[in-house]
Amino acid sequence: MSIEFVTNPHQKEEDKTLDLTLRPGSFGDYIGQETLKQNLQILIQAAKHRQESIEHVLLHGSPGLGKTTLAHIIAKELGANIRVTSGPAIDRAGDLAAILTNLEEGDILFIDEIHRLNKIIEETLYPAMEDFALDLVAGKGAAARTLRLELPKFTIIGATTRMSLISAPLRDRFGAHYKLQFYTDQEISQVVHRSAKILAMQIDEESSSEIARRSRRTPRIANRLLKRVRDYAQVHNGGKVNLEMSKAALELLAIDDLGLDEVDRKLLLTIIEKFDGGPVGLQTLAAATAEEEDTLEEIHEPFLMQIGFLARTPRGRVTTPSAYRHLGLPIPASQNLLAI
Ligand code: ADE
Repeated sequence: MSIEFVTNPHQKEEDKTLDLTLRPGSFGDYIGQETLKQNLQILIQAAKHRQESIEHVLLHGSPGLGKTTLAHIIAKELGANIRVTSGPAIDRAGDLAAILTNLEEGDILFIDEIHRLNKIIEETLYPAMEDFALDLVAGKGAAARTLRLELPKFTIIGATTRMSLISAPLRDRFGAHYKLQFYTDQEISQVVHRSAKILAMQIDEESSSEIARRSRRTPRIANRLLKRVRDYAQVHNGGKVNLEMSKAALELLAIDDLGLDEVDRKLLLTIIEKFDGGPVGLQTLAAATAEEEDTLEEIHEPFLMQIGFLARTPRGRVTTPSAYRHLGLPIPASQNLLAI
């Protein structure tokens, strides 16, 4: 396992069982996203009162914040079945037709990474979402005919990390849009406590706060770090987790005391050292750091912007005085103007 893996919020194989064990099963168990939870509960209760299915829901937010978990909770609260798929998994219109025709009235279809659906699938989805109908084309050329198949009333919950990549027609077919926010350190600390309890670990307040502080405000990362700390304490301290063990384990993973990893630091240092603190464009930055544009835009930038180390301006990315301070670098005079 590479060091980078631990702080990459995308779900990996290792997370799948972990997520299943630790995933909260109800709104009551789900920590954080308070406004979003209230909105979803109203949406669900109102639909139940009217004995209707809920509108299609679009969940948007950085990886690891709990979009899939919320989709499962919504289905459970509605007493509905949930079918899970993802944008890249639906390759051909036939795949989508197979999924849709197998749905039953009231079912939830969860489409993760919905921004990665291809154009043809997307267009097949429009009538399915709007009129609960599937238009199939039979035959070719002049003899081609469209057959319309009725579908049961179902609900799509789409999840995306990249709202800007969703086309306007698709976006408009979702009646309800919600954005997941990064968690507070206190909320992440509660997540760590809850997970530790499920994993039958004893953990003190100091250790859970330390893990929380370094978890990029993301529950999936907090749960991963908790496991790494547990392993470290197993080897070095007979399984007893304390602050010393937590700090040592996290330092060995090259995660600093604000949760920045090597790529975050490289990104900031590149802007500072090669581009005088910016502004610099994403493409240039990706080439200079030898990282993928998508990785920088989806994982590193949102977190660095969230903690106020990076800003996006119309002319490109700039570092802020807080980034210089964190890296122990003197703040140049030009940066004093950028009091972000
Ligand atoms: N585990 C992962 N995310 C969680 C959340 N939001 N609340 C409780 N436990 C979690």
